[in-house]
Amino acid sequence: MKKQYIIANWKMNKTPDEAREYACGLEQYLLKEQTHNTVVLCPPLLLLPTISSVPHTQFSLGVQNFYPADFGSFTGEHSLAMLRSFDTSYAIIGHSERRTLFHEDNSLIAKKLQYAVQNQYAVILCIGESMEEKNSAMTQQCIYKQLHVLSSLPHDVTVPIYIAYEPVWAIGTGVIPQEEEIAQCMYYIKKYAEEHLDNYSETMYTLYGGSVTQDNVASILQVEGVDGVLVGSASLQLQSFIAIIRNSCI
Ligand code: PGA
Repeated sequence: MKKQYIIANWKMNKTPDEAREYACGLEQYLLKEQTHNTVVLCPPLLLLPTISSVPHTQFSLGVQNFYPADFGSFTGEHSLAMLRSFDTSYAIIGHSERRTLFHEDNSLIAKKLQYAVQNQYAVILCIGESMEEKNSAMTQQCIYKQLHVLSSLPHDVTVPIYIAYEPVWAIGTGVIPQEEEIAQCMYYIKKYAEEHLDNYSETMYTLYGGSVTQDNVASILQVEGVDGVLVGSASLQLQSFIAIIRNSCI
């Protein structure tokens, strides 16, 4: 059975106590049930000291944000050199909330991408069109524009790159694209990567994100080209995330 990637993005949620309880429960579940899929938690940075201090042999940790420099006068920011101490090895870049709420543009996203790759972090690069772009048949154009940041990488990049197709209109709305639409975008992404990365078939994976739940995860994972899912709200309750992990093995 193909290995899938099940990645939780907690966004700005949970206290340290809640995070500890969740991480312990997840570890216990995974020790008992064993999954061949890879499970990754991306909590807020503040929770990393707590989570990384409890046993986490069955899942990996990732960051939702970082600044692309080792240290310096960047008030309020954190570098991967700091975050590495908390056992993190994945980094989300280009999430639509960072693009829209924090005005991150493709030039900053390209810098973050290069910096994460130099630091040997597995990158989770989020891309996806708005409803307006979808309605104007601009999905492919929007995706290719966002994927352009890949050209800032050396062609022979060896760290894993996960491209998460997350249509903005599907995030937190309960609405998901048709399976054919997801398959079409997975194809666009693979085609683009094929032209820009030498080892894309070994280093690149494509994920779907946006309103993934325990009820739709199995069918999403069966869509041609999908290697995993990025889960927001449905990852916040441990039982619901466990149900997603369980259903990802069907
Ligand atoms: P959602 O969020 O699962 O709550 O739609 C996904 C995401 O923003 O990564």
